[in-house]
Amino acid sequence: MSDLADLEKHATAELAASVDEATLRAWNTKYFGTNGEVLAALKAIGGIPKDERKAYGQEANRIKEALSRSYEAALADAKERALNESLTANPLDVTLPGRPVTRGRLHIATQVMRQIYAVFADMGFQVYRTREVEDDLTNFELLNMPPHHPARDMWDTFHTTVPGVILRTHTSPGQIHVMRESCPQPIRVILPGMCYRYEAITTRSEIQFQQVEGLVVGEHVTMTDLKGTITAFARRLFGQERQVRFRSSYFPFTEPSIEVDIDWPKDDPNADRLTKGTGWLEIMGAGMVHPVVLRNGGYDPAKFTGFAFGMGPQRITMLKHAIDDIRQFWGNDLRFLQQF
Ligand code: DAH
Repeated sequence: MSDLADLEKHATAELAASVDEATLRAWNTKYFGTNGEVLAALKAIGGIPKDERKAYGQEANRIKEALSRSYEAALADAKERALNESLTANPLDVTLPGRPVTRGRLHIATQVMRQIYAVFADMGFQVYRTREVEDDLTNFELLNMPPHHPARDMWDTFHTTVPGVILRTHTSPGQIHVMRESCPQPIRVILPGMCYRYEAITTRSEIQFQQVEGLVVGEHVTMTDLKGTITAFARRLFGQERQVRFRSSYFPFTEPSIEVDIDWPKDDPNADRLTKGTGWLEIMGAGMVHPVVLRNGGYDPAKFTGFAFGMGPQRITMLKHAIDDIRQFWGNDLRFLQQF
């Protein structure tokens, strides 16, 4: 019993002398740890003569409870003291302005893609997504470009280590996928997505860029439909007063093929530079789907016709916002991105 009284006395004195959290925790280990003195005193109960055991046990438990309550109270005090000290040492000025939470936004490329989707959605087009990793067959051959066809030179290609597997150089192979899936139903879709070309990176060309392809297939689709659709699109995007010009061109997957220009506002100070003095600006390639391509998609060219077009939304964005370097799009420079 006198051992217990002694334990209580020196534990209490030591606790009172422990002023910060670290010494308090050391105290706790010394008395309440696995080899602590309080636990030892409790363990000793079994060795006490029977007639004293009850009294000893009660006293040991009382001391344990008392010490542990004192410890919790002392710890809480120490923590509060430490907090108050740090607040006095580093005063908190609640009148300082807070740090603003910066607001996120959609990437300019995403914004323009959504504008384009909205225009075509109003004309009844659905969005059809296809793969970015393609095979040579779909990217070229089925689009009427057999191996060694000179037109392949228009697309410098990223090859993979798997023979015949490439990164798509344009969204046009999506035409084959959507036709094979839809045949013999009529089709009216746009096919947006990233394309890749193995090219020197300059202010006007990048190795990755988006395209929006369009494809319409049906029983009475004509060049007039193509012209009307593209004119409506160009005016929605660039202004109702725009003039649209169609020039004949060549693509292996369309016959006839055209390129589409819009006139550029003459009062724009950049007009001369953008249009190289012609007043006209190219916005896309297009044409009537080649019979070979229709057949490769499963459609009988004697019964079905179609038109297709392909444009680069980065180019269109550059026109709309007078951006002179295409590398800005994927350069992750906030000074550029935050302008939109
Ligand atoms: N795929 C062509 C390119 O990347 C663009 C294009 C031209 C798509 C004419 C078409 C089209 O669908 O009819 O240069």
